[in-house]
Parts: sequence; structure tokens; C-alpha cells
Amino acid sequence: LTTEICIIGAGPAGLLLSQMLAQEGISSIVVDRQTRTHIEARIRAGVLEQGTVDALVEAGAGARMMAEGLPHSGFDLAFDGDRHRIDLAGLTGKTVMVYGQTEVTKDLFAQRVADGQTFLFGVDDVVPTDLKERRPVVHLRHEGRSVRIECDYIAGCDGFRGVSRKAIPADVLRTFERVYPFGWLGVLTERPPVSHELIYANHERGFALCSMRSATRSRYYIQCDLSDDVDDWSDDRFWKELCRRIGPETAAELQTGPSFEKSIAPLRSFVAEPMRYGNLFLVGDAAHIVPPTGAKGLNLAVGDVRVLARGLVRRYRSGETDLIDRYSEIALARVWKAERFSWQLSMLMHQFPEHSPFEKKMQRAEFEYIRQSEAASRSMAENYVGLPLEM
Ligand code: FAD
Ligand code: DHB
Repeated sequence: LTTEICIIGAGPAGLLLSQMLAQEGISSIVVDRQTRTHIEARIRAGVLEQGTVDALVEAGAGARMMAEGLPHSGFDLAFDGDRHRIDLAGLTGKTVMVYGQTEVTKDLFAQRVADGQTFLFGVDDVVPTDLKERRPVVHLRHEGRSVRIECDYIAGCDGFRGVSRKAIPADVLRTFERVYPFGWLGVLTERPPVSHELIYANHERGFALCSMRSATRSRYYIQCDLSDDVDDWSDDRFWKELCRRIGPETAAELQTGPSFEKSIAPLRSFVAEPMRYGNLFLVGDAAHIVPPTGAKGLNLAVGDVRVLARGLVRRYRSGETDLIDRYSEIALARVWKAERFSWQLSMLMHQFPEHSPFEKKMQRAEFEYIRQSEAASRSMAENYVGLPLEM
């Protein structure tokens, strides 16, 4: 097979990239080791920055999001029962949109399939080669046959555990990593959210987050031990623990119900540099991971796609490679700032087993500072709504 761009991975990054390229008449083939049904069912992120919303609308995949998504103009930080609202709209003039990653993926798939996009699902043994040649190649197995896809560029949108990053020689790739000593246990339930805005809470028993997917469906997370198994957490135990951490006033408003999704996610900060090697570009989770606090993961992936799509469009329209040549530099500048924010908010809002009383006092002092200083609140808000594409 031949195409202009071979996209490895049909998560939000790969799907949006194929959509943005198709709008400009640039051809792509998208391959994924999973099936469409599997990808559409993965429960993940829930908060979209304005820039992400704009990108989906411009890509022609935003209609249902604009109709069903919930615009949020603020969120709450809670610290041992004390609350502080971050007024996103008042402090930045911007808002965020609560709309699940599952829905974003479904909308993008619907669009791509309607357009006749070529997909290969359920592929194995994907290997990108000839990355420094004019025509790089992706080798894979599909339905028992060997397939060779020759292209101009490869977009590695295959997530943290994908093969694209591993195709970059070890003496070129630099990685930076921090692993956190706890996980997030997440639950989805068909009940109205406890509050109309998100609440991020730090309590002496650990972090808790009250989020939502719609007016009738809520999403809750609590910090848990890495050694915990979801089977250790009955619904009853989860609700009891959440109530303790969000405090009696909020707990009194909580509507509990049976959970229909329960999973534990580890927390990690990770960046790989550079995000380009020859004619291979790394996009989204393939290049970087943030801890979920602050909801940056999906938004960063969309940011990368916007930068790359802009560069590729310029290359195909005018032959100029200046923008794709700066892809890694432009993307990483933003990635590192989102890494910093996600790390800082994670450090502020969790209980760390290794923390001394001094570090606990530092957390409390930071919370008080944010609460009392409009400048500090605005800094938090500016990061939460998303930094400009080039900053
Ligand atoms: P992915 O969504 O990971 O997509 C990668 C795709 O590549 C997948 O479809 C995969 O099947 C495919 N693939 C992988 N390997 C191969 C291969 N070898 N060959 C072919 N295809 C391959 N972010 C938030 O902001 N908030 C959250 O609450 C949140 N929760 C998360 C929970 C979990 C368990 C995980 C894993 C992530 C979570 N994230 C969250 C992060 C967010 O979901 C990601 O940042 C986002 O999915 C990144 O999109 P992506 O397209 O780069 O990668
Ligand atoms: C959700 C996840 C996050 O990491 C976050 O900061 C806010 C919301 C969510 O899944 O709803």
C-alpha cells in the first residue's frame, strides 16, 4: 500500500490528525492493534480545553460536543474541608468543556468512516523502518498477511506503550520520567454529579476528584495504593471513602449508585525528546505522559496534532518544510509547561507517603496562597484552561 501519511494508532490523536489532513486533501492510512469497538469503549479523559474544542469544531467533528458537552466556567479546590473556587471565566475569559474522550473518539470515527478513510484494525507486529529515507515504510501483519505501507511521513500516535517511540535509536532519544507512589481509582455511575462543577480535594486520607460526564452521569476518583486491586474496592467501600475525603457537607449531596466502570490508573510524568526522527513524528501519549491531575493528557495530544497538521499542510501546499522542521521544538515547549502544571497540581493535591510534616505545611501554605492571591489563582486558571499553542 502507499499513502502520504501513515498514522499508527487510532486514539484521539491519530483520528483527529487523519481528519485534519483529509480536510486539506492529504491522504492517510490509519492502523491500530485494537478494534473500533474496543477503542470507543475506553473510559479516559473528560475535560477539554477551549483550544481542543476549537480544533474539533474546525475539523468538522464538533457538532454533538457543542450540543451535549457541558461548558464549565470554574472548579473548586478543597483542602481538609476548606474550599476555594477557581473562576476560570472571570480570571482568564476562557472556559473548559466537559465531554468524554469516548464521545470525542466516537464523533471522529463517525466522520472518518463516512469520508471513506482507510483503516486497518487488529494489526500486529507493527514496525516503522527507513525513517531517514525519502519514503519510510510501516511493516505489519493484518488478517494473517504481511502488509507494507510506503509513505512520505509516519505519525506515531500509538500511545505510551506503542512501537513508534521505540523505533528511534537509543542514542538519539532522551527520556525524562517521574513515577508517583500511588494510583487513581476511578468509578463511573449513572447518577447526577454531586456538584455542578468539578471538585479537586486534598484530605489527610488522600486525594479525591468529583467529576462528571453529563447531567445524569458522574465520574469520581480517589487516590489509592499502587498495590490495590479493583476487586479490593466494593462500591460500598468506594463511596464510604469518597465521602470521608470530600467532607460532610458535600457528602450530604452525593447520590451514590452502582458503578459501571471501575479501574486503577498509575500516575506518571514522562517526556521523550526529540518528538521527530527523520520522517517519523511522535504525537500525544507516544511522546509524553502527564499525571491526570489537571486533565492535560488528551489536550496535549490535540495540541501536538494541531502543530503537526499545520506543518504538513504547509509542506503539501507550498513544499516548505520549515514548520514540520520545527515541530518537535514547538510541541515540546508547550509539553514541558503542561508537565510542570500537572506535576505541581499533583504535588499539591495528593498525600505522599514520604512527606514530612514540613512538606504537609508547604502544601497547606500553597493552598492558602492560591486562596488569598488573585495572581496565584489566575496562574492556576491560565494553565487549567490551556496555554496558547505557541508559548
Ligand atoms: P491513545 O489514546 O493511547 O491511543 C493510542 C492508540 O494506539 C490506541 O488506540 C492503541 O490501541 C494504539 N496502539 C498502541 N500500540 C500500538 C501498536 N503497536 N500498533 C498499532 N497501534 C497501537 N487524560 C486526562 O486528561 N484525564 C483522564 O482522566 C485520563 N485518564 C486516563 C486513564 C488511562 C487508563 C489512560 C491510559 C490515560 C488517561 N488519560 C487521561 C490520558 C488520555 O486518555 C491520553 O492522554 C489520550 O488518550 C492520548 O491520546 P493518544 O491518541 O495520544 O493515545
Ligand atoms: C477528569 C479527569 C481528570 O484527570 C481531571 O483532572 C478532571 C476530570 C475526568 O475523567 O472527568
